[in-house]
Amino acid sequence: MTATIDALPDLLSPVRFHQVGKTFGTGQKAVVALDGVDLEVSAGEFVCLLGASGCGKTTLLNLVAGLDRPTSGRIELNSSRPAVVFQEPALMPWLTAAGNVELPLRMAGVPKAQRRAKAAELLELVRLAGLGDKRPHELSGGMRQRVALARALASTTDSGDAGKPSLLLMDEPFSALDAITRDVLQGELLRIWRATGTAILFVTHDVREAVRLGQRVVLLSSRPGRVVRQWDVNDAPDAVDEINTALRKVISSHAA
Ligand SMILES: Nc1ncnc2c1ncn2[C@@H]1O[C@H](COP(=O)(O)OP(=O)(O)OP(=O)(O)O)[C@@H](O)[C@H]1O
Ligand SMILES: [Mg+2]
Repeated sequence: MTATIDALPDLLSPVRFHQVGKTFGTGQKAVVALDGVDLEVSAGEFVCLLGASGCGKTTLLNLVAGLDRPTSGRIELNSSRPAVVFQEPALMPWLTAAGNVELPLRMAGVPKAQRRAKAAELLELVRLAGLGDKRPHELSGGMRQRVALARALASTTDSGDAGKPSLLLMDEPFSALDAITRDVLQGELLRIWRATGTAILFVTHDVREAVRLGQRVVLLSSRPGRVVRQWDVNDAPDAVDEINTALRKVISSHAA
């Protein structure tokens, strides 16, 4: 089958992977990053993706975001355009916080008054009300990541796909932050997830973070990445030790 990204009407799953593979390069230099990945995220579900460094987590998110294409298999996408929050907030330095949040709305052609109001609402949601006129360099790392989250929410809620489930992709968004800020933002993200009902696919190295945030934790094997195990952590909140053991096994098989 050719590698395609289809938009099929299935309201239950904003994204579904069917035997997805991704190889970079060709011949002897080829790197098989992902191989035979089957994964589904349900509407409103919070899924955390764990795996060793280099196992293909970012590659997987990039495929969902449409930043890259699979070399085999198929990704069925049935969400509003997925928004991505990266490890570094990647804000436009010349725009204010509000200007950054408004950017996806501006690109979608939302009229000025409407996007102002939406940006103010989202800045309040991430607890930055009153800081909309600050530029990124005037904000702390945690505040910048909140702006990036508000911007991502702006692009998922106003991409002209009303009625489709929204999907937020997060690639180790809190790993550059200190432990206390990270803890606060994890709590904020859970609050925002409950308030917005968006599905989230969240990549992390941190088992505790995965178990705290996710309803389901998915472990990828070392390269090539494929789903090796999943835990429903709603039912097993004390799964940290078990997941740690499985992650260590995956990492040591890679080192061997
Ligand atoms: N554009 C690219 N060209 C060539 N190889 C790439 C490219 N992007 C990723 N790779 C390779 O694919 C593999 C998976 O990379 P990826 O960034 O997805 O890993 P990761 O799981 O996100 O790692 P980390 O946890 O360190 O962020 C790595 O071996 C990487 O070198
Ligand atoms: Mg990565």
